[in-house]
Amino acid sequence: MYSEKVMDHFQNPRNVGEIENASGVGTVGNAKCGDIMRIFLDIDENQIIQDVKFKTFGCGAAVATSSMATELVKGKSIEEAMKITNKAVMEALDGLPPVKVHCSLLAEEAIHAALWDYAEKNGIKIEGLEKPKSDIHEGEEEEEEDY
Ligand code: FES
Repeated sequence: MYSEKVMDHFQNPRNVGEIENASGVGTVGNAKCGDIMRIFLDIDENQIIQDVKFKTFGCGAAVATSSMATELVKGKSIEEAMKITNKAVMEALDGLPPVKVHCSLLAEEAIHAALWDYAEKNGIKIEGLEKPKSDIHEGEEEEEEDY
């Protein structure tokens, strides 16, 4: 049911941990399953993401997607990182079972929340970045909540 890549990133997650004095920290949760994700970003003066770490109280799919998401944003500019959606992360993992797709949103939202924190701390605006949600279901349409 899970691809080899998902199993690999679940069993050997990359970039687990914390960054002290991170440039930006973002935390989001999923009130339905109770899972929580926190992402730490280290961003240099050229707005390149030098390092990224994550911590989670999350299911296996949340671990695997966050592991892959951190690999994809590491070394990228903020602009490039903004383009890395949960779909791109799922593709990089060769897919997720449909009931687990929402888990991949935790990583995407936590990265956005960390970028938001960075932007606020530095008084800058990041193109296309909206105020993060603390719960990934906030403002979601009723009919999308059918898993
Ligand atoms: Fe909660 Fe996967 S079941 S994030």
